[in-house]
Amino acid sequence: MGLLEGRKAIVTGGGSGIGRATCRRMTEEGAQVAVLDLDGDAASTVAKDIGGVAFAVDVGDPDALRDVVDAAVASLGGLSILYNNAGIGEFNRLHEYQPSEWDRVLRVNLTGVFAGFRAAIPHLLAGDGGSIVSTASISGTRPAAGEGPYSASKAAVAALTASAALEYAPTIRVNAVSPGMIRTKLTEPMFEVFSGQLERFERTTPVGRVGEPEDIADVVVFLCSDLARFITGQNIVVDGGLTLHGSGVDGIFELVFGEQGQG
Ligand SMILES: NC(=O)c1ccc[n+]([C@@H]2O[C@H](COP(=O)([O-])OP(=O)(O)OC[C@H]3O[C@@H](n4cnc5c(N)ncnc54)[C@H](O)[C@@H]3O)[C@@H](O)[C@H]2O)c1
Repeated sequence: MGLLEGRKAIVTGGGSGIGRATCRRMTEEGAQVAVLDLDGDAASTVAKDIGGVAFAVDVGDPDALRDVVDAAVASLGGLSILYNNAGIGEFNRLHEYQPSEWDRVLRVNLTGVFAGFRAAIPHLLAGDGGSIVSTASISGTRPAAGEGPYSASKAAVAALTASAALEYAPTIRVNAVSPGMIRTKLTEPMFEVFSGQLERFERTTPVGRVGEPEDIADVVVFLCSDLARFITGQNIVVDGGLTLHGSGVDGIFELVFGEQGQG
């Protein structure tokens, strides 16, 4: 029996990357999945692949998302899981961001998560409760230069997660995942444009590789399953140890013992 047998799930941003991998893993574990994405063709392709249903929607439009969630719930025959995963990135100097770019990132990454809660919670409360997971980022807790609006939006997702967890316990468990560097359409351009970045992340990530979408999907499935029944309000970092770096004495161990700790 699968970890999500009989569950009914909505996944936003399900047409690509982490969302697509999670739609597949949820289905393998017995869930029925509605794939939501701005790119309706991508959502349809994934839905066809997993035997689910597809809907085109912009998560940054709360009323449109509510209509689509209502339609998805009607099609699934109920709701037990929401994965708020749709997100976009931007990179610039803070003072050079146009207010419209700031608004766009916050609208999709933060308002989109609020809009997901707003649309799905009435259905979860009307049923037997369930689980909500949202995709934050290591950038929310360890921001890098150049990603101000992105980092701010992801920090806010973690805060919203904790607030919602308190508000809806014990009926709905609410958690976030914070991926590290994962190979998807979002990050691929960086590896293509700047040579040596793949090797850099392989070198600086303690588990020795860049992440794959399935590394996150497995954790989302876990958080939505009964295995995580005592976990709520958390922001789970899934980064292969990348953010462990940065202590004041980082690198001294390697100086003393060599790169492999064998010196
Ligand atoms: N890839 C990484 O390294 C990484 C790291 C940390 C966090 N994240 C987060 O993971 C999530 C998934 O990103 P990914 O890496 O799989 O990227 P991706 O670009 O492969 O997938 C994102 C999906 O979201 C959809 N989308 C974008 N805007 C939307 C909107 N307004 N409404 C509905 N759908 C929309 C896109 O069409 C796409 O299918 C994002 O929230 C991202 O911020 C990714």
